[in-house]
Amino acid sequence: MAGTEIFGKEEIMAAADVIERRMIHRYGSHAERAGVYRAEEFEAAAREITGSKYALAVSSGTAALITALKGVGVKPGDEVITTPFTFIATIEAIVACDAVPVLGELDDTLSLDAASAEKLITPRTKAIMPVHMFGVAADMDKFVALGKKYNIPIVEDACEVVGGTYKGRALGGIGDCGAWSFDPNKTLTVGEAGMVFTDDHDTWFRMDCYHDHGHVHSKEHDRGAEGKFGFGVNYRISELQGALGVVALRKLPEALASLRATKKKIIEAGIAAGLAPRPMHDPEGDTATHVIFMLPTAEAARRFQAAAGCAVIADNTWHYAKHWKALQEMGEKEYFGSRTPSYMPETMAQAESYLSRAVMFGLNIKMSDEAVEKIIKVVEAGAKAAL
Ligand SMILES: Cc1ncc(COP(=O)(O)O)c(C=O)c1O
Repeated sequence: MAGTEIFGKEEIMAAADVIERRMIHRYGSHAERAGVYRAEEFEAAAREITGSKYALAVSSGTAALITALKGVGVKPGDEVITTPFTFIATIEAIVACDAVPVLGELDDTLSLDAASAEKLITPRTKAIMPVHMFGVAADMDKFVALGKKYNIPIVEDACEVVGGTYKGRALGGIGDCGAWSFDPNKTLTVGEAGMVFTDDHDTWFRMDCYHDHGHVHSKEHDRGAEGKFGFGVNYRISELQGALGVVALRKLPEALASLRATKKKIIEAGIAAGLAPRPMHDPEGDTATHVIFMLPTAEAARRFQAAAGCAVIADNTWHYAKHWKALQEMGEKEYFGSRTPSYMPETMAQAESYLSRAVMFGLNIKMSDEAVEKIIKVVEAGAKAAL
């Protein structure tokens, strides 16, 4: 899956150009850089994909999520509803805002279930964060409707689905804010970076200032003469990441086409062997980074795993809150004026009922016919053992 496998001469030339011009930083030096702003070009290319009015490149997907939550006004003690099936960064972003993570249930696509999120809304709820996991969109129509009904911002964690869509709209650009990641395990990578999207000028302005120590950016002044807007942090990207990002986004259609062609072959073989693929709200928008089959029972999933040698998602310590001791230790404690829920595994029985039946294979953009054939063979062996 790592995007470095499609690196070529274009990336080398893009990086060399930044170094040769000695313009490695994104802000300031306006006279010296002769109108070349690679980080801004990266943002413009991202905006073109999501159709968002504003895109802000930041140093990671985690930074993008924190910046988004700050941008929509999440404050200490507020509650943010999200899912137990995500990367821990989603929870860390909430905790970094001194807010309280509240975990909902999953729908049959393994995404946050909008109806369960609605039941968790309280006067303290200040954002809802659906996460588009392993290539597949959460049910965004329902979340947008929920956000409107309760006047609560929807922040999409689209870190894993750069290029994914839901009913024709790009993930990350549907909610009030959305975040992408370009870390080394994502479809496209620039080393480390994130992108945060919004259509709202004031939200963008707060995020733009926040990600760079509160500086109010202007090309009319020297860097040192920039104004200040509140406190911030340093989540800036460099021009190197910007230049690599421009190249990466140009390669996105090619990367998605390759992943989708590979996934189609494996899914078809699985269906022929009697397996049920993970349901999706919009199969056309799947970025196809993962193949998941849902077995009828947890026992069947174990039999499949033993024969196929693949992962059962319930065991995944990176992507399932049941395994996070730091979160469990936060449970039922007074926290910035709010009381946290329990995060013990028994509170996640509903998620467990799905994730213990989900078997998974990760795909690479470039896979040889032999490698794909090998997966198909183990899928068939798994199905035979499990069904
Ligand atoms: C769902 C999800 N959210 C957030 C992140 C954080 O992105 P980054 O590694 O760029 O900080 C990741 C990365 O693995 C992720 O998978």
